[in-house]
Amino acid sequence: MTNPVTLSVKDHIGIIIIDNPPINALGIDVRKGLISCIDEADANADVKAVIIHANGRTFPPGADITEFGKPPLEPHLVATCSHVENCSKPVIAALHGTVLGGGFEITLSAHFRIAMPKTKFGLPEVGLGILPGASGTQRVPRITGAAAALDMMISGKPFNAKKALGLGLIDKITDNENILNAAIEYAQDIISNNTPINRVCDRTDGFADADKYAAEIAATRAQLDKKGGLFCHYAIVDCVETAAKLPFNKGLIYERDKIMACMRTDEHAALVHVFFAERKSPKPPEAKRAKPLDIAELGIIGGGTMGAGIAVAALNGGLNVTMVERDEDSIKRGIKNVEKVYLRNIEKGRMNADQMAAVMARFSPTTNYNDLSQVDMVIEAVFERMDVKKAVFTELDKVLKPGAILASNTSYLNVNELAALTKRPAEVIGLHFFSPANIMRLLEIVVPDNVSDQTVSTAFAFAKKLGKVAVRAGVCDGFIGNRILGKYAQAATNMMEDGASPYRMDKVIRGFGYPIGVYQMFDLAGGDIGWDTRKRLAATRDPAERYVHIDDRICENGWFGQKTGRGYYIYENGARIGTEDPEILAIIDKERKIAGITPHNFSDEEIMETYMAAMINEAANVLHEGIALRPSDIDVTFIYGYGFPRHKGGPMQYADTIGLDKVLATIERLSQDDANFWVASPLLKQLVADGKNFASLNNV
Ligand code: NAI
Repeated sequence: MTNPVTLSVKDHIGIIIIDNPPINALGIDVRKGLISCIDEADANADVKAVIIHANGRTFPPGADITEFGKPPLEPHLVATCSHVENCSKPVIAALHGTVLGGGFEITLSAHFRIAMPKTKFGLPEVGLGILPGASGTQRVPRITGAAAALDMMISGKPFNAKKALGLGLIDKITDNENILNAAIEYAQDIISNNTPINRVCDRTDGFADADKYAAEIAATRAQLDKKGGLFCHYAIVDCVETAAKLPFNKGLIYERDKIMACMRTDEHAALVHVFFAERKSPKPPEAKRAKPLDIAELGIIGGGTMGAGIAVAALNGGLNVTMVERDEDSIKRGIKNVEKVYLRNIEKGRMNADQMAAVMARFSPTTNYNDLSQVDMVIEAVFERMDVKKAVFTELDKVLKPGAILASNTSYLNVNELAALTKRPAEVIGLHFFSPANIMRLLEIVVPDNVSDQTVSTAFAFAKKLGKVAVRAGVCDGFIGNRILGKYAQAATNMMEDGASPYRMDKVIRGFGYPIGVYQMFDLAGGDIGWDTRKRLAATRDPAERYVHIDDRICENGWFGQKTGRGYYIYENGARIGTEDPEILAIIDKERKIAGITPHNFSDEEIMETYMAAMINEAANVLHEGIALRPSDIDVTFIYGYGFPRHKGGPMQYADTIGLDKVLATIERLSQDDANFWVASPLLKQLVADGKNFASLNNV
């Protein structure tokens, strides 16, 4: 391969250019190239200053992901940074694009920094459960002090050039549209003014107020204790604290030890797993076989919770949207539901009235199905009833142009049945959005038997256009997510009848890392949804199956959760966080008595172990039946759709972490009391017998 880093000399300025498409990642060849070009420039008596610049759309935005998880290759980035900093001639970093992670650490090793106004900076390493381990934790606080350094490293959030300038992390923002020319001018000034080199490693101004520094460190630790920080968060605090105490080179060794410790954590393994999982899930086999069609004109049937949310997601994705409702009153409500989102954006200062008007100009509400004759795709989001959906599909099949795709947002129903009704089964697909559809990133793409590769490929491209994380799912009751949810929700309900209070279970589940507990989630989604499903499945339910009546008793009172002000929790005056309800505990108590159950005292561990065993076991079934393509797709589904803590990697990665033999042992133990509910998945048993884990099935 050609050298990705080159040096040329012009008018006494050594210009180092990084050219490593597509994004100039800091792979081994770039690191080697930077070191040799710095050496060459240093040795060349004609060179009075050196510029580091990158071709293409960005300065290096970080490490090379193909080196992830492998033993680090020399020269390490930290050595590269020191090499840049130790150059005897002034080194100027010329910055554009996204200067993140290792790219930012290289930048801080240069002696001067000039950036274009739209340049973004940041240290996002926490996203992978590690810290900025190429001197970032030691250099940044030398410039900014503790608070800003901790904030940027712990949040991992990018920030703009203006903020970087304000914090002293860069020296100049240029209006010159050619960053290299601006850097050359800057270098000429530095040469002619003989501006002294100011190495960040020698600076101590960030530590000037020692008391303030120590107080900011203590406050951050206290905040992490309160919120529940990860190992990498505390490691960052330790490194920043140490920066002020140890000489720079010793600080680097400390930082190195800490990043190595981060790399040994389960959290790091889980976060790296998720990083790759979410890049894999939008790539189904169908996308390799067929090119997607462009969807520019979208139809939506129904302007309720989901229809309106999908409309907003599509409008935000730049599409034209036609919404059909069943009558004038309903379409008025649909319009209001869409407007509400944008009016709130205006209220929050996220957009202005003109911008809202421009978006709404692409929105066409109607009650006439014929207005859909030119759309490229329709998403149906009417009531969750097969008869209603069938009527809508029959009508749509008549009015849509040939080749237009017909999608259903059903949460559970059989998309094969809907496809079979139409003359275009190859163009019928499930698009299961999550509520609120304009916010939740997950989209399950449900692939019926007779759909074409092109329709599937188009659905995935459409998801990308809307900024969604798409996962391929097969047809079954509840697809990947809701089917598995059904099982662990049932396990929770059984535990509730057996003695665990819903409030205690929610607390334990939050303690595991979920933002809310399962009963808080039911209250948010609406208890009536599960009630409808239970009624729908009543006729076919196995009479030997355990049935707990508590949820039905609660629904019979009209307590559907937040929307009715009361569910498992009470929501006074529209409050979003509910309070515990003694009447719920009384209902549970009564049902226990009717069922003849003596309450059992569950430990926190028992609650979580049971909850996770039900989730993992059903996930294994979903995988075994081919409903999910790969374990990592299930992980993506649960992280993006069900609040599973990202740093635990999703249920499958978590199962691998604790050991599949342990999960199987839990299931076998529980099946002694309820053999009907606890049936170990054949796949789980097979993997344990073969000494394999779920990760071994990810290479699909
Ligand atoms: P919703 O009751 O809020 O809205 C349904 C809308 O469909 C109503 O506005 C109704 O007027 C309209 N509608 C009914 N029949 C129609 C017809 N023939 N032509 C035109 N419009 C008609 O229901 P929601 O919650 O939006 O659910 C819609 C679908 O989305 C269901 O299949 C549901 O299972 C699914 N879903 C719901 C989720 C949720 O959290 N609410 C999450 C994911 C999927």
